[in-house]
Amino acid sequence: MRAKDFILKAHKNSIEKGSFTWSSPSNIALVKYWGKKENQIPANPSISFTLNNCKTTTTLSFSKKENSNEFSFEIFLDDEKKDDFKPKIETFFKRIEAYLPFLKDYHFKIETSNTFPHSSGIASSASGMSAMALCLMSIEKALKPEITDEYFTQKASFLARLGSGSACRSLEGDMVVWGKHNEIEASSDLFGVKYPFKVHRNFKNYNDTILLVDKGEKQVSSTIGHNLMHNHPFAIERFKQAQNNLSILIDTFKTGDLKTFIEIVESEALTLHAMMMTSMPYFILMKPNTLEIINKIWMFRKATNSNICFTLDAGANVHVLYPENETETVLEFIKNELVAYCQNGHYICDQIGFGAKLINQTV
Ligand code: DP6
Repeated sequence: MRAKDFILKAHKNSIEKGSFTWSSPSNIALVKYWGKKENQIPANPSISFTLNNCKTTTTLSFSKKENSNEFSFEIFLDDEKKDDFKPKIETFFKRIEAYLPFLKDYHFKIETSNTFPHSSGIASSASGMSAMALCLMSIEKALKPEITDEYFTQKASFLARLGSGSACRSLEGDMVVWGKHNEIEASSDLFGVKYPFKVHRNFKNYNDTILLVDKGEKQVSSTIGHNLMHNHPFAIERFKQAQNNLSILIDTFKTGDLKTFIEIVESEALTLHAMMMTSMPYFILMKPNTLEIINKIWMFRKATNSNICFTLDAGANVHVLYPENETETVLEFIKNELVAYCQNGHYICDQIGFGAKLINQTV
């Protein structure tokens, strides 16, 4: 597929109004996307677990309008009008207009809500942008019913990527790869694909407990963060390493080797932060409690031979990953030893999930 294959051309149907509701989850990267080229093309491939409980539900209502000169939309978060979200949606619409020429023909009402608190430091861009992209693709499907399910999902992921890169990994489960990798034939820089190979039962229902260390606004926006990889002294090596780490994980998912999984996942998290610490300008996004938690996890692993590990996003919160058969012991450990480092004791229990769902439609 090339980008131009996603341009909606002639369609027979015309629709006056309707609405679609999709729910779409967040995802947690194991090999991280950090650095991009023009048009949201990633500098390296990434792979993620799709989450189950952390998700956004979006209803997109649309009605035909008189003139088609400009975008027209309003946006509500938890029933409250959110004009400060408008510039983000405007930018998104501009980026995807060429692929969805009907965008200026309608007025849109976007009503969205998240299962996780807005000010939790958990990015809602992956779940939010993927839910939006799916609603828009439902309109395309209503206009052109003959598009295939495969095309629907690929184009929804393609559009979500133009909203926020990591969003293209949120549509399907339970693992998604985004970015060209030579061992994964169907992989693409343009959209996420379901992980195509065998996955050992050790990874079934894998847990992700998210420890909310710092619920504040992001210190560094992802756009600024990705840009720091331009002319970064370690960029070329980092992009090669990500390719290689994905190769190692492919093998690990086959054999079920949790020790190697832990090594790669923790190294990826720390490398992501190392890239931020060694860019110009430089940032430290971990907080003292992030390091306390990491050390406690390492001590617990050593003492009990557990397969617990951590990963990080571009912030201070810690994702604690562990296999299903350790749920009880690790949760006990989290409650006894880690919750003290969370802001107001807050954490979210999640696990691998299976992607987005159409909740409602009226056309
Ligand atoms: C650290 O997808 O938020 O979470 O494409 O600029 O919207 P934009 O960036 P975004 O970057 C996420 C980076 C990350 C790692 C990852 O999810 O792979």
